[in-house]
Amino acid sequence: MKKCSSFNDAKIQCNIPIHFILRVFLFCLISFVILSIVLSMDQTYQGSILLSYQKSPRDNNREITDQSTVKGLNQSFIIIPKEVTTKQLILTSTKGIDLGNKVRHVAFLKVHKAASSTAQNIFLRFGWARNLTFVLSSTKIKFGYSNVISSTESLTKSNILPKPNGKHFDILCNHVIYNKSAFEYFLPNDTIYIGIVREPYEQYKSTLNYFHLGYIFKNITADFPASVYIRDPLKYEPLSIFTSWTNNRQALEFGFPLHLFSKFNTSEVKLILEKLASEFKLVIISEQMEESVILMRRYLHWNMKDVVFLDQNVALKRKKNRFVQPHDRHFYRKWAKLDYELYEFFLRRLRAQIRDQGPDFDDELILFKEVRKNTSIFCLNDPKEGEFISINESRWSESFNITWELCQLLMMEELKFLQKIRERQYGPMDICRFSNHC
Ligand SMILES: *[C@@H]1O[C@H](CO)[C@@H](O)[C@H](O)[C@H]1NC(C)=O
Ligand SMILES: *[C@@H]1O[C@H](CO)[C@@H](O)[C@H](O)[C@H]1NC(C)=O
Ligand SMILES: *[C@@H]1O[C@H](CO)[C@@H](O)[C@H](O)[C@H]1NC(C)=O
Ligand SMILES: *[C@@H]1O[C@H](CO)[C@@H](O)[C@H](O)[C@H]1NC(C)=O
Ligand SMILES: *[C@@H]1O[C@H](CO)[C@@H](O)[C@H](O)[C@H]1NC(C)=O
Ligand SMILES: *[C@@H]1O[C@H](CO)[C@@H](O)[C@H](O)[C@H]1NC(C)=O
Ligand SMILES: *[C@@H]1O[C@H](CO)[C@@H](O)[C@H](O)[C@H]1NC(C)=O
Ligand SMILES: *[C@@H]1O[C@H](CO)[C@@H](O)[C@H](O)[C@H]1NC(C)=O
Ligand SMILES: *[C@@H]1O[C@H](CO)[C@@H](O)[C@H](O)[C@H]1NC(C)=O
Repeated sequence: MKKCSSFNDAKIQCNIPIHFILRVFLFCLISFVILSIVLSMDQTYQGSILLSYQKSPRDNNREITDQSTVKGLNQSFIIIPKEVTTKQLILTSTKGIDLGNKVRHVAFLKVHKAASSTAQNIFLRFGWARNLTFVLSSTKIKFGYSNVISSTESLTKSNILPKPNGKHFDILCNHVIYNKSAFEYFLPNDTIYIGIVREPYEQYKSTLNYFHLGYIFKNITADFPASVYIRDPLKYEPLSIFTSWTNNRQALEFGFPLHLFSKFNTSEVKLILEKLASEFKLVIISEQMEESVILMRRYLHWNMKDVVFLDQNVALKRKKNRFVQPHDRHFYRKWAKLDYELYEFFLRRLRAQIRDQGPDFDDELILFKEVRKNTSIFCLNDPKEGEFISINESRWSESFNITWELCQLLMMEELKFLQKIRERQYGPMDICRFSNHC
């Protein structure tokens, strides 16, 4: 008997019977069919997870989209765990618009001088358009900043206004120190947490420009007091860390434990960052606002119209560097170690989150930039009441109009917007009810 070294050998020259070869072929065929069935069962399985998730009665953090407005889309895919987003959209929808039930419970940690007013406007508008209930500062508008709940502590019964009768809080987007259990006490248990951070040195310069910090500008006499300060900050820092605006302020507002500010500990910082990452679905990076906002739109199942923004509260470029000198950045980096860890950690995470979104993320980004550009051209050119521009529908959005009214909200100063909301939530007499100023 010859040795068979190839298929040809077998067929022509050796004694292996043909029916053996046929059997091998048949075996392969059957395996293939079985494999296909198993794979398709896997998809059915995914579908049923989605269906049962959608039906969950406990899910009160969702806006039920009116079926009739969702032309031709099968609702069953609509609440989409992040992992299957794009795949499911392609499988089940020709248009790929995620008109899913919008998340309505959001806590936004509004970090000082981190371009957070720009992001805050999105939350204010979203809640305003739907009559949602906001957590508001008990600060009397005529005396303080009603956008600050507290700069020294987390939410307490006394620093916020009580929730209106029969309502629960939906949205928090004012300045306050983060503390998970305090936030959880006041907000629904399905609240999605969103944070924001800014490149620390930029945030520092913005702070110098914005606040007139006595411990720097009054107490140091020099041409560039901040340059003197940053070379030996401990010499000038206020006694309480909460009254400092330049001692790792972003980490402070994210609720880092105080002992880390005097003694840095790499492994503990790492643990805290991982904990924060598990609590915050997204931390917006100010320098990548558009990317961050698109991710947020996807995570919250909001429309493009919901997340359009104009740049708010942005300082003029020429003012930016007026208090700093060369080399200050180097000293700041040594001083603001916690802020740099925080920023770099969430910058890395944002990049990974964007990578997870797949290639259509960039397409949406390009469209979003164009929509923003058209919106700001329209809104900043003094439109008349009744005028509007239309944005066509796309893979990521229904068609919508940018109206004069929307421009007013997009450009509204935050204190004015908060006052509007306050009056709607508590009635026009609120200012009298909660202050001594009538
Ligand atoms: C929507 O999906 C469900 C579940 O997969 C299916 O039973 C139903 O027939 C679909 N409806 C349409 C209009 O395609
Ligand atoms: C919001 O609430 C007010 C008063 O509770 C009500 O008059 C108004 O119609 C509501 N608006 C929307 C859009 O639900
Ligand atoms: C967070 O808030 C809880 C009460 O809600 C309090 O017991 C705890 O001490 C706070 N943690 C910090 C670090 O302030
Ligand atoms: C979340 O809150 C809802 C409504 O307040 C409640 O019915 C539900 O049991 C809570 N879920 C969890 C996991 O605590
Ligand atoms: C400025 O320095 C004085 C004297 O050292 C000190 O008492 C005061 O608290 C400092 N002011 C600030 C705002 O830190
Ligand atoms: C740093 O933190 C880790 C983890 O919390 C702890 O085990 C360790 O003792 C700390 N190191 C110092 C020097 O405090
Ligand atoms: C933006 O405006 C330009 C000029 O009017 C227009 O050609 C373009 O289609 C608009 N883009 C969008 C997304 O509406
Ligand atoms: C929107 O779509 C319509 C019809 O498809 C088209 O005529 C129009 O030019 C589009 N507008 C913009 C701004 O792209
Ligand atoms: C945009 O406004 C026009 C005119 O008021 C209206 O006919 C159209 O339906 C609006 N489009 C959307 C998507 O709301």
